[in-house]
Parts: sequence; structure tokens; C-alpha cells
Amino acid sequence: MYESLKGKVAVVTGAGRAKGLGEAMAKRLAAEGALVVLHDLGKAGDRFTPEHGVGTASELEQRVEEIRAAGGTAVSFTGDLRVEAEVAALVAFAVETFGGLDIWINNAGVGYLFGPLVDMESDEWDTVLDVNLRGCFYGMKHAARQMIAQGRGGRIISIASLAGKSAVLYTSAYTASKHGLIGLTRTAALELGPHGITVNAICPNHVTTGLGAWQNDFSSGAKGQALDEYMARMTAGVPLGRVGVPQDTARAAAFLCSDEGSYITGEAMNVSGGEEYH
Ligand SMILES: NC(=O)c1ccc[n+]([C@@H]2O[C@H](COP(=O)([O-])OP(=O)(O)OC[C@H]3O[C@@H](n4cnc5c(N)ncnc54)[C@H](O)[C@@H]3O)[C@@H](O)[C@H]2O)c1
Repeated sequence: MYESLKGKVAVVTGAGRAKGLGEAMAKRLAAEGALVVLHDLGKAGDRFTPEHGVGTASELEQRVEEIRAAGGTAVSFTGDLRVEAEVAALVAFAVETFGGLDIWINNAGVGYLFGPLVDMESDEWDTVLDVNLRGCFYGMKHAARQMIAQGRGGRIISIASLAGKSAVLYTSAYTASKHGLIGLTRTAALELGPHGITVNAICPNHVTTGLGAWQNDFSSGAKGQALDEYMARMTAGVPLGRVGVPQDTARAAAFLCSDEGSYITGEAMNVSGGEEYH
């Protein structure tokens, strides 16, 4: 447990879905005594359908109720991270509700729209980049503005991926977005360090979340492997002998957000059981 997280105000984006990384991080921070705003898109539209992993408003409310039932403090807010005004409104909501902002976690992401580069349509590319990179830029920008104004430092974390460091077949937009997110993290760390704000990325390997399950179906099909065979091969490539679970990422995030992580910035921390090591 990290005493230093008690009373800290945290926003976690894309936290509505059960078994997601956002849910795990929001619950861990709340269990540490942080006051948490859980955010998600909340409604389907465009390329965002329930099959493609949209966190609905009722799912989000369920996550909040679970945190409250466990004795934590949480509220919900819906909005589209592709729209700058909606990201600014999320920051304003956290400040109005809890009196400030200490922790911002860019977790929401589009982990579908996979396929061969030569078949990718530009609007598919835009959808992935708009959420995974532009949305994180908006988050960093507006969270940092608030943290700088408060003058008490802060923590910004973005959930990148093993795909932020290595190539993954048929994921050109996703892999480009996650590589870009690590570059954005490093630059932001340079600029925000003087304000006492640390900026880091976490790079998980595969986790069977809603998004992860879609990826397994896609990738096993693309490789002509049965799902069981695909999962067994993936697991065999992890030195620690299992794929990730949401709590792995939540533990890393809690550490980076606590005082114990205060001298770590500009990092892209692998949480991958040894699968990724650079
Ligand atoms: N599951 C994995 O294997 C894995 C591995 C590495 C990195 N990641 C990353 O972890 C993060 C969380 O993914 P997850 O696997 O927990 O899946 P998830 O489906 O639980 O979470 C993704 C969330 O992003 C939200 N979202 C999508 N577009 C949005 C938008 N425009 N505005 C607001 N919210 C939006 C979705 O509604 C959803 O709730 C993603 O950034 C993903 O790329 C996942």
C-alpha cells in the first residue's frame, strides 16, 4: 500500500469495461485512498460499437458502484477523447468534484481496426491515431495545465504497449500510435519535469481484456491457428510463463503514481513478464 496516494485526485480514461486495464488501475488507486474519476466514451457511434469495445455509460456506472461498495471514492464522466473540448471538460469536472488534479492516466485506446497495411483505409488509420495518440496529447496538455497552475507537481501515465517498442503483424496504425505515444511521453517528461510532474508510459504485453479477446480472435485467424494453439504459442514466448493480467499494469501504475516513483520520468516501463526487454 502507498500512503502517499491517500487523498490524491486521479482521472483514469477508458475505465468502464469489466476486466479492462482501466478498471484495474481505477480500483487499485481507489483502494489506496485516491479520489478517482472514471471516464469512458459511454456511447456507440462511428466505428465504436459494443463488439469493438466501447465502454457504455451503464458499464462505467457499474465500475463506480463497485468501487463505492468496496469503500472507495469514485465518480464517472463520459466523453470522447478525440474532441479537445471534451477532454478539457473532463479535467474541469475532476477539479470541480474533488478540488484539484494529481494523477492523469491515459488508458483509453482503440485496439482493433487491424489488417494488412495495403488494405488499410485512411479513415481507419485516423480513428486509431485520433484516440491513441491525439487523445493522449489532449489529456497530457489539459492535465498538465491544471497541474502547473496548482504548483504541487503531478503524475501523468499513458498506457502504451509492447507494440510501442516492437512490430506486431497487421497492426500498422496501432503500432505507429503506440510508438508515437512513447515519443510524446519522453518529450512531455522534458517539459514538465521542472514543474515536478513525472510523465511515464507503461508497456503491457497481451492481457485478455475485452480488447485483448478481440485481438486474439483476429490474430489467431490471421495466422490460421486455433485460438488454443495461438494462446499456447503466445504464452510460451513469455519468460515468466503467463500472459499479463490487468493487476500487473495496476501495480506498476500505483508505484509510479506514489512517492516511491517520484524520481522516475520519461520511462516506457515494460510490464510484460520479460517478453519485451528494451
Ligand atoms: N489488452 C491488451 O493486451 C493490451 C496490451 C497493451 C496495451 N493495451 C492498451 O491498454 C489500454 C486499455 O485497453 P484494454 O485492453 O483494457 O481494453 P478496454 O476495451 O477495456 O479499454 C479501452 C477503452 O477505451 C475506450 N475508448 C475507445 N475510444 C475512446 C474514445 N474516443 N474516447 C473515450 N474512450 C474511448 C473504450 O470505450 C474502452 O473502454 C489501451 O490503450 C490498449 O491499447 C492493451
